[in-house]
Amino acid sequence: MNRKILALVSLTVASAAFAQEPVKVGLVAPFSGIAADYGKQMEGGIKAWFKLHGDTVNGRKIEILVRDTTGPNPEIAKRLAQELVTRDKVDFLAGFGFTPEALAAAPIATEAKKPMVVMNAASSVVTTRSPYIARFSMALPQVSAPMATWAAKNGIKKVYTLVADYAPGIDSESAFKKEFESKGGQVVDSVRVPLRNPDFAPFVQRIKDAKPEAVFMFVPAGEQSIAFMKAFEERGLAKEGIKVIATGDLTDDDVLNSMGDPVLGVITSHHYSAAHDSPENKAFVKAFAEVNKELKRPNFMAVGGYDGMAAIAEVVKKLGNNIDGDKAMEILKGYKAMSPRGPISIDPATRDIVQTVYIRRVEKRGNEYWNIEFDKFTDVKDPAK
Ligand code: PHB
Repeated sequence: MNRKILALVSLTVASAAFAQEPVKVGLVAPFSGIAADYGKQMEGGIKAWFKLHGDTVNGRKIEILVRDTTGPNPEIAKRLAQELVTRDKVDFLAGFGFTPEALAAAPIATEAKKPMVVMNAASSVVTTRSPYIARFSMALPQVSAPMATWAAKNGIKKVYTLVADYAPGIDSESAFKKEFESKGGQVVDSVRVPLRNPDFAPFVQRIKDAKPEAVFMFVPAGEQSIAFMKAFEERGLAKEGIKVIATGDLTDDDVLNSMGDPVLGVITSHHYSAAHDSPENKAFVKAFAEVNKELKRPNFMAVGGYDGMAAIAEVVKKLGNNIDGDKAMEILKGYKAMSPRGPISIDPATRDIVQTVYIRRVEKRGNEYWNIEFDKFTDVKDPAK
């Protein structure tokens, strides 16, 4: 082989090898313990995106490095994020189920100039903690205020609030109260319950004694929803005519079928329901079921994973082999897409998501329970910012 051809061949081989460097995404979330499904749903949403669009963008394979916080566990989340940027040299940090985990990892993203794609953590403050954060889930005030608007418009006047005692719960309580009172409603009393393993019975009894028309609540998605509805049923609040209104975390698609008849008729506000009627969602739900045999149905964390992955792919498409944190953030700011949940965009000023918030009612179709959307608020931003 003459030298010219040899040089050409080695150049081609070298650039092909370079082009094949994977893009590394560190996915930090709980994958074991009480919130194991948070991580599994996010990863499930990412897998559904790969199923529909492939796992290679601009010639680069996207590699997911799964890291389990076992959380809620901010110290572990911070250590894992640190290791991902220093040892594994990831291009993106992603995931983050619980607000305290996202807050703990935020300084790592800032220091390393790595985009941090939040797929759940939903307290308002999260996006303010690093200029490298963009959020593809929701903010609790964004979904809580519309529930208050809807309740006031639909003749509910006296509400008792119950929230988990940490940042997302406090955000939810304040946003609901502010909006409800501005529309003429009254919050008769408010209670905050421990984040871990609350015993709902005494709180539910207090609510019963106060005789409100409804209880508005936020608890982190998962087993707590089942425990709350059980206490609500056992203490006979429904029989007293007390309604449950909540953020959709209560009727999360992942646990909805385990909640049973007490949950029928519960009204919630949220950004995603697996029952959302659109071609994009039908394709997503189908792909999700095909690649996640053990999960059955995507929930709002899965759609956060899907949309976060779509946004990462957009960055890789535009930046190719030169992924730079600052340039990536410029692309993420102002990102727009038609998501399985409906239209979404990232507000360039806050790096937080702008989206439709739906009002839904739990209904039974065949043997399954679904959050059926019947009203909506479009282009909703986080009202707390
Ligand atoms: C959070 O900690 O930010 C969080 C966790 C679970 C939810 C919503 C928010 O369902």
